[in-house]
Amino acid sequence: MRSSIDSLHSSPPLRIDELSPEERAVYATLKPEGLPRHVAIIMDGNGRWAGRRSLKRFVGHQQGAKSVQLVTETASRIGLPWLTLYAFSLENNLRRPRAEVSFLMRLLKTYLEGNVERMQINNIRFRYIGRTSELAPDIQDKMRWVEEETASNTGTTLTLALNYGGRSELLDAFRGLMAEMKHKHLSPDRVTEEDIHRHLYTAHMPDPDLLIRTSGEQRISNFLLWQIAYTEIFVTDRYWPDFRGIHLLEAIQNFQRRERRYGGIGEDGGEVEENPDKIGIAAS
Ligand code: FPP
Repeated sequence: MRSSIDSLHSSPPLRIDELSPEERAVYATLKPEGLPRHVAIIMDGNGRWAGRRSLKRFVGHQQGAKSVQLVTETASRIGLPWLTLYAFSLENNLRRPRAEVSFLMRLLKTYLEGNVERMQINNIRFRYIGRTSELAPDIQDKMRWVEEETASNTGTTLTLALNYGGRSELLDAFRGLMAEMKHKHLSPDRVTEEDIHRHLYTAHMPDPDLLIRTSGEQRISNFLLWQIAYTEIFVTDRYWPDFRGIHLLEAIQNFQRRERRYGGIGEDGGEVEENPDKIGIAAS
């Protein structure tokens, strides 16, 4: 699965001296060799953050956009190769009031215009996943512009999931794969997991090592369904507008305490009894 992965950003440069003293203290506890390559975040709680303060929901989204920038900058300082943020789902597009959808789109445009310089300074490369061709043409133009402006940066790749849904990604992948099979006269029993991976929006990146969800909900919400098969999940009660670089580092700290087994038995798996008759489970 790793063969088609974009190698440009396998180890982005570190800028630890640019971390805040608090961030540096957490970073100092991390094992550099155990850093995740790819962190994905479900940014949730903008509305509740605003509600708690008797503010309108859009203020929560504005503050959420600030968190996007600050968290991405910390990610780039610690040399995280891939950061993927769930910014706007297909369901958000279909189920939220039109006024909120249109506000989120304008916010995205303003965000892209207003932050491209900081992206350059921080060596961040921009990418997108999702059915972005369904977004308004002026938004798509802005997205393309930022992607092109930052294409040669070699630090963190920030991928925004926009008009994204995990099931529709799989559907698009299967359609692409079926078209390829038809073209190449391939039989279904020759299809491999690698073939499906090649047709995902994320074919150029590794699967996430760590998935963070803010605001306490314990749901996947149709995000990266194929890719998170072995991803470690970290849920925090903190609302996204309050989430900062230090919280990303704390999530990584928690991640480093986990043992990833990928269906195996791990390092201290103990002895395995080879004779099933000896383990004393009576058949009933
Ligand atoms: C969830 O909060 C967040 C979203 C639906 C959109 C995420 C958008 C941002 C972080 C801001 C804009 C992003 C960019 C890239 C400019 P919610 O509204 O579902 O919160 P709630 O569950 O508390 O109502």
